[in-house]
Amino acid sequence: MNIVLGVGGGIAAYKSALLLRLFTEAGHRVTVIPTEASTKFVGAATWEALSRRPVTNDVFDAVDQVNHVRIGHEADLIVVAPATADLLARAAGGHADDLLTTTLLMARGPVLFAPAMHTEMWQHASTQANVATLRSRGVHVLDPAVGRLTGPDTGPGRLPEPEVIFAAAMALVGEGAPAAATPEPEAPGALAGVLAGVRVLITAGGTREPLDPVRYLGNRSSGKQGTALAEAALAAGADVTLIHAPMEVPAPAGAKVQAIETALELRSATLAAAGVADVVIMAAAVADFRPSSISTGKIKKRDHVADPVITLVRNPDILAEVVAHRAALNQTQLIVGFAAETGDDEADASTYAQAKLERKGCDLLVVNEVGPGDTGSERVFGQDSNHVEILALDGASPVQAGGSKREVADAVVQLIAQRLGTG
Ligand code: C5P
Repeated sequence: MNIVLGVGGGIAAYKSALLLRLFTEAGHRVTVIPTEASTKFVGAATWEALSRRPVTNDVFDAVDQVNHVRIGHEADLIVVAPATADLLARAAGGHADDLLTTTLLMARGPVLFAPAMHTEMWQHASTQANVATLRSRGVHVLDPAVGRLTGPDTGPGRLPEPEVIFAAAMALVGEGAPAAATPEPEAPGALAGVLAGVRVLITAGGTREPLDPVRYLGNRSSGKQGTALAEAALAAGADVTLIHAPMEVPAPAGAKVQAIETALELRSATLAAAGVADVVIMAAAVADFRPSSISTGKIKKRDHVADPVITLVRNPDILAEVVAHRAALNQTQLIVGFAAETGDDEADASTYAQAKLERKGCDLLVVNEVGPGDTGSERVFGQDSNHVEILALDGASPVQAGGSKREVADAVVQLIAQRLGTG
C-alpha cells in the first residue's frame, strides 16, 4: 500500500520515525512529507534514510513529475502525525501552500490526523472548530492522548503512541484490529525501565485504630495489591517508598519501607514523603473513623456496669490532603487513589466511584467492586486476583484490568508511565 506520512512541526515529530518504521515493517511504501517547520525537529535526511525514498516539501521540486498531483493520487492512505494546530487549521481552510497541504487536497483515499499540541491549543475554540470541520468532511482525527507535555504541563495534547496511530490507520483501510483507546497491558518485561528514576510513593495495608492496648478497629485489607504495586514499580525501575499499615504479605525487597499502624501515623508519614514523590499511589485501606479516645487499660467486661459504647471521630482524608498539598506546592505529581465500592438500589458501584474521583481530585482512581461475587465468596479482600476499572479525572476513557494482583499492578504502572510520557 502507498502511504503518505505528513509530519507537522512539533516536538513529537520524532515519534513519527517509529510510526514510519511500523508502516515499512508491515510492508508498506511510505512517502514522507515533512512541513518546513517540522524539519527543525527531525531533518529530511532521517526521513530519507528510514523510508529509503526522496523527501521534500517543496511543490517546486521535481516539477516535471507534478509531485503534488502524483503523490496525492497514488496515496492509498494519508496519515498526518503530529498534526499541529496550524496544520489542522490549514487543512480545514483548504490551504495549498506547501506539498503536504496540496497533497491533502488531491487525496481521495482515507486521511488520518494524529494531533499533538499543548492542551490550551487543543481546547481552543479555533482548533476544535477546525477538527469538527475536518471530521464533518470524513477526515479521521484522533483525540490526543492525555499526559505530560513538553513543558511542566499535563493534559490532553500528547501525540497518541505510534502503535495506536498505526492501528487506527490500518483500521481505516480495513487491515488489522481497530485502534483501542488505550493499548492492552504489555507483558511485564516490556515495562522494564519505564519508570526509571521516577520516585513512587505507595501506601498499602489496612490501618488499625486502637480501642485499648489489646483491641483495635481494622479492616480486611491484606496489603497484597499495594505490595504488588510496589513490586511492579520496582520492576519498572522506580525508586519506591512503601508506607504500610499491617499486611498479610512481606514488603518487597528493594523498596524503602516504613511501617505504621494508624491513619494518623499514615497521614504524617505520607505527607512527609509526598513532597519528594513524582507519583503517589494510595492503595492503603484507611479507616475512615477512629475511636474518640483510647483506653489506657484493657476495657473490662463488668456485670454491674453498662456495656461500653464506642464513639468514633472522623479520620482526615489523606488522599484529599495529598491532592491539596500538591496544589499548594504547585508540584507536578501524579496521584492515584483506590476505591473499594459496592452498588446499591440508588446507583451502581461505578457511579459512586466517579463521584468519589471528583470529590477526591486525584488523577486516577482504581476501582474494585467489593463484596460477594457470583459464587457468594468475597471478590477482592485477601484474594490473589482482582478486577479493576481505572477512572481518570480528565475524562479519559476508563481502563479495565484484571488477573493477578501483579497483573493489575502492571496495568496501573503502564498507565502511569503513559501519563508521565515515559512508557
Ligand atoms: O473514601 P475511600 O476510603 O473509599 O477512598 C479510598 C481512597 O482514599 C484510597 O486511595 C485510600 O487510600 C484513600 N483514603 C485516605 N484517607 C482516608 C480514607 C481513604 O487517604 N481517610
